[in-house]
Amino acid sequence: MGEALALAARAMGRTSPNPMVGAIVLDSEGNVVGRGWHERAGAPHAEALALKEAGARARGGTLFLTLEPCAHQGKTPPCAPAIVEAGISRVVAASGDPDPRVAGKGFQILRSGGVSVETGLCAEEAVRLNEAFFVSVEEGRPFVTLKVAMSRDSKIAPPSGGERWISGEKSRAWAHEFRDRVDAILVGVETVLKDDPLLTARPEGREGKPLIRVVLDSRLRTPVGARSLPPDRGVATIVAATEGADRENEKGLTRAGAEVVRLPSDPEGRVALTPLLLELGKRGVRHLLVEGGGRVHGAFLKEEFVDKLMAFVAPMIIGDGGLPGAISGAEIDRLEGNSGLLHVDRQRIGDDILIEGYLRKPPWADLKESSLV
Ligand SMILES: NC(=O)c1ccc[n+]([C@@H]2O[C@H](COP(=O)([O-])OP(=O)(O)OC[C@H]3O[C@@H](n4cnc5c(N)ncnc54)[C@H](OP(=O)(O)O)[C@@H]3O)[C@@H](O)[C@H]2O)c1
Repeated sequence: MGEALALAARAMGRTSPNPMVGAIVLDSEGNVVGRGWHERAGAPHAEALALKEAGARARGGTLFLTLEPCAHQGKTPPCAPAIVEAGISRVVAASGDPDPRVAGKGFQILRSGGVSVETGLCAEEAVRLNEAFFVSVEEGRPFVTLKVAMSRDSKIAPPSGGERWISGEKSRAWAHEFRDRVDAILVGVETVLKDDPLLTARPEGREGKPLIRVVLDSRLRTPVGARSLPPDRGVATIVAATEGADRENEKGLTRAGAEVVRLPSDPEGRVALTPLLLELGKRGVRHLLVEGGGRVHGAFLKEEFVDKLMAFVAPMIIGDGGLPGAISGAEIDRLEGNSGLLHVDRQRIGDDILIEGYLRKPPWADLKESSLV
């Protein structure tokens, strides 16, 4: 199962709206005769690939699967009947699939076809790997990770004209890699106006599924020359505006390569976050990385849309004139102390400390590790 999970993880950031899945077929003597993983939505499923490689040797064999096989016709045929058809006698699956079109039905088809089914092996690892998928299916919105880089005095930007970077080079490289694992990244228009960030994934660009950049910009103030607009090296940009935003500005932004999406306003006249998240969900975004700045962080925290917090704390004091973040180091400690921040992990990255934790209970929290249940 460990190998099947490693196969699944190869497609990290590429499979949405589908989950990552890995599969291994053993013949009746226990030899590995087929391997597969789901590369992207629309591509063959892991079990179909593993069964194809195994061919007739699958008969009487065991299939290790990181997720329940699908029971419905999607872009590819359903896998559960194909497993029965291939003559597999035993399926060991790490976890069920929360998708209502599958949940329990995949296992049911297997059992009805005479296949013995065991579930729960490495369940925690399997659900953890697909935590964004599980939460997104459950909540009907993308899983949200909030990333912030702050100084020791909890400032997220220096006074204007100061050195732009807060976190160190290693942290920035780490964060770039992380972008490559998500489906979309989001910033507020003030960040675009002040920093004009590129918002790409890795320096060499991204292959496979494009990364969606989202700029929250109620009144379409994004300059047409902003570096984050042109579709480039596997990224595409959505500028999220309100219904009343200027039509002329929209034309300019569209010409620059962005898509303008108009959404309802919140009571303060800004883009309302619930319709935004639903819209991103419709576009297959399972994992959204909210990068900032402070007002955007504050809005996501206030509405309790943040699933996971990722805070880089750099060993510097910015002092007066710096921009205070929506969450401070002291607040993180307080949340950790009163169980408002769960499964907290601290690691050193270069000179910075990365604090990660969950603001909501993750879907794998109560699963037993590495056991058949
Ligand atoms: N250290 C870090 O981790 C980090 C990360 C990113 C940015 N930054 C820094 O943060 C600073 C900018 O932060 P900021 O707080 O001034 O601005 P921001 O969060 O980048 O952008 C806020 C703007 O987004 C628009 N917006 C639209 N819908 C919104 C909604 N529902 N909720 C909140 N905002 C919405 C609003 O402008 P409209 O009303 O015009 O739409 C709002 O003023 C920059 O200096 C940048 O360098 C730091």
